[in-house]
Amino acid sequence: MKMSALRLLWVPVLLCVTHAWLCHGACVEVDSDMEAVKGKGFKLGCISCKMRGEVPASATVDWWFRAKGESEFAHIYSYADMTSYIMDDRFDDRLAWNGSKKTDDVQDGSIFILNVTFNDTGTYRCFFDRTLVFPNYEYRTNATKFININVVGKATRGMASIFSEIMMYVSIIGLQLWLVVEMVYCYRKIAAAGEEALRESEAAYLAITSESKDNCAGVAVAE
Ligand SMILES: *[C@@H]1O[C@H](CO)[C@@H](O)[C@H](O)[C@H]1NC(C)=O
Ligand SMILES: *[C@@H]1O[C@H](CO)[C@@H](O)[C@H](O)[C@H]1NC(C)=O
Ligand SMILES: *[C@@H]1O[C@H](CO)[C@@H](O)[C@H](O)[C@H]1NC(C)=O
Ligand SMILES: *[C@@H]1O[C@H](CO)[C@@H](O)[C@H](O)[C@H]1NC(C)=O
Repeated sequence: MKMSALRLLWVPVLLCVTHAWLCHGACVEVDSDMEAVKGKGFKLGCISCKMRGEVPASATVDWWFRAKGESEFAHIYSYADMTSYIMDDRFDDRLAWNGSKKTDDVQDGSIFILNVTFNDTGTYRCFFDRTLVFPNYEYRTNATKFININVVGKATRGMASIFSEIMMYVSIIGLQLWLVVEMVYCYRKIAAAGEEALRESEAAYLAITSESKDNCAGVAVAE
């Protein structure tokens, strides 16, 4: 009894939590894709959530790039005060802001590469410099993320994606079969129960009639 009451208490808690995640724009750190296709656009995802969502803050975002085979990172992009700067010729006119819009309180620092070339293969580093503003003081934090990008000629699909699609069909078909089996089983059970009920009522009828006969006999004997 106590257990089930406790479990019931969990339901609204879980609902609230999922609701908050889904509906109130709460920040979730999602990993970036890693495979870009030559000639297409590519979103370099980088999200850094505030540890305390309710505290006002402002942040700047910087991106660095180390091409495959190079040893040093080069500063390629900077975003501060809602303004972006491309710092490297290789990316002239090819980087666009894809992160948080119309706010200094940046939590999504993603950028978009236009017309990807094979030369864009390498490691990208995203750096958040954030200042949390408390009533009496300011607190500065930073976060760094690395993303390895591989540029391919044509879009390929990862094994994981293919596998999960196959699993999806398997589970859909499996569930349908299970449903059919269950329906047949239930139908039979109901039909059998119906027959049983018929037989029972018949038996009851016979019992009553024979009982009344017995009663009659009893009455007859008494008389
Ligand atoms: C990212 O920026 C590119 C170029 O400006 C744009 O085409 C694309 O729709 C943007 N994507 C998102 C999710 O904002
Ligand atoms: C990207 O490629 C398209 C077609 O190849 C071209 O028209 C466009 O000017 C290119 N944009 C940039 C910024 O290089
Ligand atoms: C890629 O890099 C090589 C060597 O640095 C350069 O010759 C070539 O023009 C670059 N290609 C593009 C599309 O930028
Ligand atoms: C990032 O934060 C750490 C402490 O959390 C500090 O030691 C480091 O200097 C900071 N880095 C930059 C570049 O501000």
